[in-house]
Amino acid sequence: MLIERMIRRSDMIRCALCADAPCTAACGRCDPAGILRSVWFDNEKVAALRFPGANPCVNCDAPCERACVREGEVPIRTMLTRLHDEVRPLLEEALPKDEKLLRTELCGVPLENPFLLSSSVVASTYDMCARAFEAGWAGAAFKTICAFDIREASPRFSAITGDNGSIVGFKNIEQLSDHSVAENMEIFRRLKETYPTKFILASIMGRNVAEWEELARLCEENRADAIELNFSCPNMADGGLGSDIGQVPELVERFTAAARRGTKLPILAKLTPNVASMIPAAQAAKRGGADGIAAINTIKSVIGVNPHTYVSAPAVHGRSAVGGYSGGAVRFRCGSLRNSGKRRTFPACMFPAWAGSRPGWTRWNSFCSARGAFRSRPRSCSTDTASSTISSRDFCTISKKRDSKTCGR
Ligand SMILES: Cc1cc2nc3c(=O)[nH]c(=O)nc-3n(C[C@H](O)[C@H](O)[C@H](O)COP(=O)(O)O)c2cc1C
Ligand code: SF4
Ligand code: SF4
Repeated sequence: MLIERMIRRSDMIRCALCADAPCTAACGRCDPAGILRSVWFDNEKVAALRFPGANPCVNCDAPCERACVREGEVPIRTMLTRLHDEVRPLLEEALPKDEKLLRTELCGVPLENPFLLSSSVVASTYDMCARAFEAGWAGAAFKTICAFDIREASPRFSAITGDNGSIVGFKNIEQLSDHSVAENMEIFRRLKETYPTKFILASIMGRNVAEWEELARLCEENRADAIELNFSCPNMADGGLGSDIGQVPELVERFTAAARRGTKLPILAKLTPNVASMIPAAQAAKRGGADGIAAINTIKSVIGVNPHTYVSAPAVHGRSAVGGYSGGAVRFRCGSLRNSGKRRTFPACMFPAWAGSRPGWTRWNSFCSARGAFRSRPRSCSTDTASSTISSRDFCTISKKRDSKTCGR
């Protein structure tokens, strides 16, 4: 990547997280912050297409660089000029004008495009979802809702970085939404009021049959479009929850059936990868009345063990726990599901983890290569996307790729 040779990736993340970027406010001719963000998301081509036409930086004395919160650190004018002069001429395709070709559906519910936030820290408030919707995401799997008290540890994230400073793997020990059920229901209603065409997948976790049924019912009453059953969180402080359920097909069936009694909405069972084979749990979910599966949640992990204390990262007051691993290092193989013919059994399937956290060519290609099994089903992201504002232009360009021979299997 051209730009990565000009600025360290670890420095660029500060641009990706820059709110109301002063460089863009100072420019007035283009959106340097948006362009830099596309570069961060491995999308130099889209970045180069974001110029209005001729290079606006010619003969400009770069007020953007003076306005930057890291004054003098980001060579914006040089970077944008190189994108314009060196990357743009190599582009074969223009941005498609019509984003409608990205439309799809999930269990009969229409989606504007196949991109959803996955249930996680990035989809846990009204504002986060609203920002994501404004940026072009078709919907969100809201942070898992439960009826019990959640007390989170802090810090609860830790990352493994590669040579160039990018995050390649991410461990979290976060549990579920710490808002009350009533607060989350109010968020659903407000989101649906403001964004009626966006898709809300309500992720829930109960402690018993009654709670699974009741949560599913409440989510339907408060305008969720579909329900996701969290049988896969590896971080629960109490036993018998999350991935402990996903590892026991009988429990998967029982709790799916309970949720089914509470709602007529489509139900996805989010399964854990911490089993020898996900097929028994998927079959159990089907027997319980699920319409599809969501695969996968994070993987049980220990990273960054301190050689002196033997405590893994993240350490909280000198102690830590097994956590969930996600991010670019994770690739989910759907081959076993495909080969077992489960595609017919499960018309809907989401692939949160393996498709990766940073939308871009590489991961989009991974996504396409799995389409042979589950044709164009939605994908979602959480890691790294906390403040992501992937624009619909990024979607448009990758949609072109979707139609190419490489992906059209
Ligand atoms: C900080 C964090 C919190 C998460 N919380 C939830 C959750 O509440 N419910 C859930 O079903 N999955 C949760 N996940 C898992 C994600 O939804 C997703 O399945 C996983 O991170 C893999 O996708 P990714 O590689 O795009 O991160 C969480 C993940 C992270 C990183
Ligand atoms: S160049 Fe400066 S102002 Fe612009 S996005 Fe990056 S850090 Fe923010
Ligand atoms: S150098 Fe380019 S990005 Fe910066 S203010 Fe001028 S036109 Fe805008």
